[in-house]
Amino acid sequence: MHFETLAIHAGQEPDPLTGAVVPPIYQTSTYKQDGVGGLRGGYEYSRSANPTRTALEECLAAIEGGRRGLAFASGLAAEDTLLRAICRPGDHAVIPGDAYGGSYRLFAKVQDAWGLAHTPAKGHDADAVRAAIRPGETKVVWVETPTNPLLAIADIAALAEVAHDAGALLVVDNTFASPYLQQPLALGADVVVHSTTKYMGGHSDVIGGALVLADDELAETVAYHQNAMGAVAGPFDSWLVLRGIKTLGVRMDRHCANASRVAELLTSHPKVTEVFYPGLPEHPGHEIAAKQMKAFGGMVSFRVAGGEEEAVALCDRTEVFILGESLGGVESLIEHPGRMTHASVAGSPLEVPGDLVRLSVGIEAVEDLVEDLTRALA
Ligand SMILES: Cc1ncc(COP(=O)(O)O)c(C=O)c1O
Repeated sequence: MHFETLAIHAGQEPDPLTGAVVPPIYQTSTYKQDGVGGLRGGYEYSRSANPTRTALEECLAAIEGGRRGLAFASGLAAEDTLLRAICRPGDHAVIPGDAYGGSYRLFAKVQDAWGLAHTPAKGHDADAVRAAIRPGETKVVWVETPTNPLLAIADIAALAEVAHDAGALLVVDNTFASPYLQQPLALGADVVVHSTTKYMGGHSDVIGGALVLADDELAETVAYHQNAMGAVAGPFDSWLVLRGIKTLGVRMDRHCANASRVAELLTSHPKVTEVFYPGLPEHPGHEIAAKQMKAFGGMVSFRVAGGEEEAVALCDRTEVFILGESLGGVESLIEHPGRMTHASVAGSPLEVPGDLVRLSVGIEAVEDLVEDLTRALA
């Protein structure tokens, strides 16, 4: 079946008892057993499995083209569980040279203290990633594409080769693209990571994370850790993400169309010095993005003439674009990465320019978005 059909139906058979078309929210911690060990449908305790979460996990696997999906309490919980499942003290990870600040903080401040070393390398440069690999020690090559917040593009197929040559796994954070626009497992990645808080949920009303794995054995190991560590998605949060996924395709089409108009406006604006959007023909990753993505996404970043103070002031002048962290919801958001989402990379190799502004372009009428930005920039 096609993506849009899977998004609506995978894992979501009508409820056998009532015929409910939408999977119920099984708000329960435990399940009656028919005699000791007599589990109904394998359900025993909701940290181990819950039917609403199972529906989401099956849907995630289907829409990413993976063997198994696992749903977590947040994107970072998914990342942490994966790293503790596949790495041991003394191992090494190649991490993105541009990435969500919280993912960098997880490597630099949490995993590092438990003995997982890391080297940042720009994912758009396969040679730089290859050079950062420590033979025998590197277990993971981790990339974001497009990156947060500079929208750099990594060639997933090329990096899968680099990682596999070194005996490492390729992990792709697919949060910015969503599986509607990009399917990393089909390009050779081993694991896909999501903050489902973003486009998958799509309505800025839930925090969640996901892993989708290409290999059954690896999936079993990570699923064991999901239960053993316990950072699972709750039933209501699972239900919200599942509901969001049903409209992912139509929302992404509109996000992409609106973002592309906004990028065009910014490119020709005298107060803007640089625009980062992979849909622009002059973007250095444009050709690879065109090859591996269905369209170019809803995120646009740009640098403002007048430096950091002007960038900060601009964030406070828009009216339709709401000043706030996060992304991927139906409403447009504006933020200053240096002082907000990426404050944790200050002073690190991942530090972002002070005059940078990031937009999550929503699905409002594009005329209103263009007018809002035009007025705020003026
Ligand atoms: C690209 C990316 N990956 C992962 C995360 C972490 O997800 P969460 O905030 O759901 O823990 C974020 C959050 O902004 C993100 O932008």
